[in-house]
Amino acid sequence: NDAGDAHRPLVHFTARRHWINDPNGPIVHGNRRHLFFQHNPNGLEWGDISWGHAVSDDLVTWQELPVAIPVADDHMIFSGSAAALPDGSIAAFYTGHRHADDPLRVRQDQRIAVSRDGGATFEPFGADPVIDLDLVDFRDPNVFWHAPTERWVMVVSLPDRRQVIVFGSTDLVTWGECSRFGPAGATIGIWECPALFELPALDRERRFTATRWVLKIDHNPGHVSGGSGGQYFVGDFDGFTFVPDHPTTEPRWVDWGADFYGALPFAGEPPTNERTWIAWMSNWDYAHDTPTSPWRGAMSLPRRIALVERAGEHVLVQRPVDALDHPSGTATESVGSVASSGRGTARWWGDAADPTPSVVEVADAYRLRLLVGGAGVTIRLGFGGDTAVTVSFDRGAQTLTVDRSASGEYPNERFSGIHSAPVPTDGPLDLDVVVDRSSVEVFADQGAVVFTELIFPPAGRRTVTITGADPGSIRLDSLV
Ligand code: FRU
Repeated sequence: NDAGDAHRPLVHFTARRHWINDPNGPIVHGNRRHLFFQHNPNGLEWGDISWGHAVSDDLVTWQELPVAIPVADDHMIFSGSAAALPDGSIAAFYTGHRHADDPLRVRQDQRIAVSRDGGATFEPFGADPVIDLDLVDFRDPNVFWHAPTERWVMVVSLPDRRQVIVFGSTDLVTWGECSRFGPAGATIGIWECPALFELPALDRERRFTATRWVLKIDHNPGHVSGGSGGQYFVGDFDGFTFVPDHPTTEPRWVDWGADFYGALPFAGEPPTNERTWIAWMSNWDYAHDTPTSPWRGAMSLPRRIALVERAGEHVLVQRPVDALDHPSGTATESVGSVASSGRGTARWWGDAADPTPSVVEVADAYRLRLLVGGAGVTIRLGFGGDTAVTVSFDRGAQTLTVDRSASGEYPNERFSGIHSAPVPTDGPLDLDVVVDRSSVEVFADQGAVVFTELIFPPAGRRTVTITGADPGSIRLDSLV
């Protein structure tokens, strides 16, 4: 284990070796979760892009399988999606990236491959490319069956025009353009990796009320926390045109941190249930420079997603999948001055008579949930010595801040340190923090505000220190 492997996450997917980026074609098939991903099977750098493959039963433990769609002689296998066909086979929809070695001749087109062995191997569908507009930038098809119109729908990006095109097809061979969306929202940089899907809207008790459509689009650069990131629109989709419910001048950020890109929901989940999505946990600003080996690139935690109503609008909420209740496998109990920090116990942190913060020793991967009343909180996630990430909520300023400026090694100078989001809440604020060896994910306000952040701390004693602005105002719900 060299230093780079010491950063290898415990509860996030990484390839055994070599480079990965976007998740591709996540799908529930044969009772298992399949994840494909952008992968260089031959090196730690981006290149020879193929679709890698992994499976999981619980979304936390993954088994990596051989490459599912290897790079071809004349094209790389760029990002895309998957869907089950009526005969039980899996169709993969991806972008063929041609003439990679000659920038003047690069062309991107949309292709289909079919697997009849449960995703292990794919054969060309036979009509490739199915869409070729002779464009340099035209990629990342997101395809699904639209039952009301009994057609296949494909959403695909025109990156440099900040537009997505909606195509429709009844036979997967002939595709007709239906509409275009954009530019809108975040229009700095290029648009990539669109996803269009139906989500349940939930009321305060998390009861189903209706479904709405979400159009998620990633952009690079220009994200709120620098570099690449995602934005989303909520609206209606009739099978042909997406119409947002809200003004699209101000972007709505999927994640306020720096490291959540190319998210895709799993195909094969009912749209009336919370769905599950997963993203690449990195940023094109420094993805090539992350100090890890023999692997490079990790996936985010898979998250359950839904919409909830806030101030008359539907907003996206995200929470870690249930299997993450015990990230380190065992609960950390009776540490420091905390009597019992096991799952399910509740305790008010801090004491008016003795406001000295407790320092709790934790495992390499852990999850901390708390409820913040009063004026705010500062949570120091320590990694030994002065190395730490702080998560702080300032009720007066209605701001949640994640500061990774002292989190250890910086991949390069574009690794930004301090990220903030507005959290306009009057009541107690719930915080759910998942820390792994090289990441911190923060879910606040029932998942309406999320931060995903890479960190590269040295090996050291991991601790948590919680300081409340008002002693006694913080309830620790669990630390495991
Ligand atoms: C997004 C992206 C996609 C492309 C893929 C190539 O991260 O640039 O647009 O298909 O990566 O690996």
